[in-house]
Amino acid sequence: MTVAPVYKQGWTMDDVHWSLFDPSKVDPALLATVKAAALVEYNAPDYVSYLKRVFVNASPQTISDIEQWGREEAQHGRALGRWAEMADPSFRLEEAFARFRKGYTPDHFNDVGDASVRGSRRGEMIARCVVESGTSSYYSAIRDASEEPVLQEIAGRIAADEYRHYKLFYDIQHAQPEPELGFWRKLWIAIGRVRESDDDELAFSYYCANVSPEQEATTPYDRKKFSQLASKASMAAYHRKHIDRLVQMVVKAVGANPHGWLAQIAGALLWRRLETKSA
Ligand SMILES: [Fe+2]
Ligand SMILES: [Fe+2]
Repeated sequence: MTVAPVYKQGWTMDDVHWSLFDPSKVDPALLATVKAAALVEYNAPDYVSYLKRVFVNASPQTISDIEQWGREEAQHGRALGRWAEMADPSFRLEEAFARFRKGYTPDHFNDVGDASVRGSRRGEMIARCVVESGTSSYYSAIRDASEEPVLQEIAGRIAADEYRHYKLFYDIQHAQPEPELGFWRKLWIAIGRVRESDDDELAFSYYCANVSPEQEATTPYDRKKFSQLASKASMAAYHRKHIDRLVQMVVKAVGANPHGWLAQIAGALLWRRLETKSA
């Protein structure tokens, strides 16, 4: 039996064993989804500015945790991008990222106000926990599905970071001097954030990462089509256990029992939805 390595916080690009890269073990569906994920991760500095506005006047520790979080997310983008460039020499992280940035900016990043779009800091942290639950399970799925050793390692390192991010935002949520939100309110925020996964971010990042500038004229962007292709590529990695884990983390973030009825029903529904969407 092989024991999974423990990846600690604070790793750098130099810690990755790049020389073990084996091009014969690259899976095309995983490559397509990893390229798209690299662009989303690399976009982290925008989230940092937004979160710092939401947490204006927060403790220096919270601000420095948010900054450290942003650095780790951007490094995820660099590591995934570098791996994708090795696996597909025609892929250029910076070039694909520039196209993604040009065409995608969520409205709330442009707001000059300092209020969270989720209504409160606690609400903001629930939404962040949803995202970190998603990324933590996504990279665990990639790690488990990849036979290519460097991708296995990077995904393992990132999955461990994402789980720590979830814990960080979970703790910040509970440390806020704001009244505790009611269960249904929390659930509503979490569902709202899950539904936003249908927005342009995933579909457009998949498009910019997998359709070259030369192909743009003949293959124009179509949100529905590329959302479906993005789901299909990521579903190549997922197993039911990854979805159950994701749901348990989200359910815990809204204050319910991660092993109770809500988690069971939500897990079954989400799995069915993803299967249909990627079929
Ligand atoms: Fe990340
Ligand atoms: Fe994260």
